[in-house]
Amino acid sequence: MKLTIIGTGYVGLVTGTCFAEVGHRVICVDNDPDKVKTLQQGGIPIYEPRLEELVRRNTEAGRLSFTTSTAEGVENSDIVFIAVPTPPLADGSVDLSFIERVARDIAGAMTAYKIVVDKSTVPVRTGDQVAETIKRYCKAQVEFDVVSNPEFLREGFAVEDLMNPDRIVIGVRSQRPVAALREVYSPFKAPVIVTDINSAELIKHASNSFLALKISYINAIAVLCEATGANVQEVANGMGMDDRIGRRFLDASLGFGGSCFPKDLSAFIKIAEQVGYDFGLLKEVQKVNTQQMNRFLKKIVDTLWVLKDKKIAVLGLAFKQNTDDIRMSPAIELCHRLQKEGAILTVYDPKAMDKARSVLKDVRFAEDMNAVAEGCDAIVIATEWDEFKKLDLDRVRKTLTHPILFDGRNLFDPAEMERLGFIYKSVGR
Ligand code: UDX
Repeated sequence: MKLTIIGTGYVGLVTGTCFAEVGHRVICVDNDPDKVKTLQQGGIPIYEPRLEELVRRNTEAGRLSFTTSTAEGVENSDIVFIAVPTPPLADGSVDLSFIERVARDIAGAMTAYKIVVDKSTVPVRTGDQVAETIKRYCKAQVEFDVVSNPEFLREGFAVEDLMNPDRIVIGVRSQRPVAALREVYSPFKAPVIVTDINSAELIKHASNSFLALKISYINAIAVLCEATGANVQEVANGMGMDDRIGRRFLDASLGFGGSCFPKDLSAFIKIAEQVGYDFGLLKEVQKVNTQQMNRFLKKIVDTLWVLKDKKIAVLGLAFKQNTDDIRMSPAIELCHRLQKEGAILTVYDPKAMDKARSVLKDVRFAEDMNAVAEGCDAIVIATEWDEFKKLDLDRVRKTLTHPILFDGRNLFDPAEMERLGFIYKSVGR
């Protein structure tokens, strides 16, 4: 099928590439000429496993191309997907100006029937506004359909999630665009839910908020575990074996971050408020998340006492593993707070060092994970990178001034760490 994706961020670029990989002909549009140039030359602006290889293969095969022209995309496609950012405003609500701008651009370029699909995470009833905007700004009297098709990919697993989705949600006003959307997704072998647009939009915010709730729930349980000598991983394993609960997203940590959960939670609380419902449950999810970071920091202060001039090594800067994304990263927040207390930091991340340089000042960037602890008073694990599990613990212990390890991601076994001679503090154990 002939498809256009507007916006080449995480969602847009991965979606466009995977659509091309299954055989569709895809035009990716972005209004940033530098980004488009990079992509045209085979460069990738983000790190995402397998993405570079797939972009190269599909560009070479002529199925994937990049342009700055929305008109070019719209003219040459049957279906136009919107995948532009929906960033938060100061009051927590969603900035829909990019969506509105794109809706106008699409309207201006339409000369025949098009299906306009929103993939960005938007507040319920945005589809109605997009339809109204297109109607208003479309010069030619052509028919169109607006569809909501939220994306559920996780950064770091974006290609995998997109190629093997749990479900495809298609929100429509009429049945007319359904067959075409089913055809787009037919190679993906996933259940398709066809529903109304408002429900589709709500599914996205409701899902992300629920996942954040799950993490805050286990983080609250972690507090009880610490107070009683129980082990939060054992509790999570026991809970997770109940099919109705499931083990995933029950990993206690120093809190969740990223460009989705914090933003989507605030937006959902605001959306509820606007329709007259006080979503206190989700406010509590935010509160637990904030407290979780405070508690972890307190653990460090309680152990090291005064942080001023203490040398601390921090492993992990990305908001989670397998990504170079540092937006709303708990690891970066932790670094800033340690610095505020006067600590001197050496940091390391397998992928996020370049991006971190712009937000972390006066820190030393280590060459590799095993060198990070040299001459430090303690080491902190802030991101759950799998490779940190292969840390040369013997070397780290010897190079630390004091063998103290704070593990914000529960990567190691407490008994084993003690045996190795570490003072080991993790979360909920
Ligand atoms: C999330 C949703 O999972 C995805 O479906 C949606 O499309 C976008 O938002 P993402 O933000 O990429 O994806 O990351 P995710 O893997 O969900 O992790 C979010 C945060 O929660 C990270 O900081 C992660 O470290 C943390 N987390 C996750 C935990 O602290 N514990 C867990 O058990 C799981």
